Amino acid sequence: MKAGRAGAAADAVERARQILGRARSIVVLTGAGISAESGVPTFRGPEGLWKDHRPEELATPEAFARDPRLVWEWYGWRQDVVRRCAPNAAHRALARRALAAGAAPLTLVTQNVDGLHAAAARQVGRELGEEPATALPLELHGSLFRVRCSGCGRRREHDGPVDASSRQSLPRCEGCGELLRPDVVWFGEPLPRRELEESFAAASAADACLVVGTSGVVYPAAGVVTAAAASGAEVVEVNPRETALSATAGVSVRAGAAEAVPRLFG
Ligand code: OAD
Repeated sequence: MKAGRAGAAADAVERARQILGRARSIVVLTGAGISAESGVPTFRGPEGLWKDHRPEELATPEAFARDPRLVWEWYGWRQDVVRRCAPNAAHRALARRALAAGAAPLTLVTQNVDGLHAAAARQVGRELGEEPATALPLELHGSLFRVRCSGCGRRREHDGPVDASSRQSLPRCEGCGELLRPDVVWFGEPLPRRELEESFAAASAADACLVVGTSGVVYPAAGVVTAAAASGAEVVEVNPRETALSATAGVSVRAGAAEAVPRLFG
């Protein structure tokens, strides 16, 4: 029984390698599962809760309007968790493949706000002596390490701690004085236009689509996969469990990302 499962997984990896190996253009969509083995909790997994709050209760404009201190306290905790994490073998394999000389173009699209794809791009770029730019992801849901003014919309990088001990101590815009907020997409908010357009353009140009570590239930992000499939791309999924996108995938590799993704491009 065990040998049968291992054989099926090896067969899926081989078929996935062939699909990705013959592709002339690849789009990759990642979700929280790709960072699970780095130690970042997934959203819908058992560790997604914080002080009994579900992410869906805090990641909304209404929650920020009601209690910005609580929302910043949660984001401060998430930043601390992520600062202690490093890219894993899956992030690094994707960065290496995106920077490989002469390989078919690969567009990396992520729903993650943890910055681990960008960290992998910088790491691998340094090791190869390459600029990391082509391995940087399109961040559909923003970044934990940028802030945006809730008044005038001005954005900037932000990697320091936030004092969320009182409403008065929260960071404010240098331009207009309104409260700064994390530059992440909250429930009910539109996705950033450039990232969305470039992701869907890459999806319709791709002849292979790799989807890693996402439950595939949040749109429009999951639509990157269905758009690629509708344009004729072969879809490969890496996820230990069945997801809402499994029916769209021709090949599902039932394994963790850090183990499976390096084998797809090795
Ligand atoms: P979820 O928490 O919904 O799903 C994580 C997926 O990762 C699940 O399908 C797991 O089976 C899978 N998984 C767990 N461990 C894994 C591993 N080691 N390797 C590969 N896969 C693994 O997270 P997302 O699908 O990313 O949006 O959630 C999508 C969006 O919902 C998030 O970006 C966030 C959330 O609401 C916003 O905040 C706007």
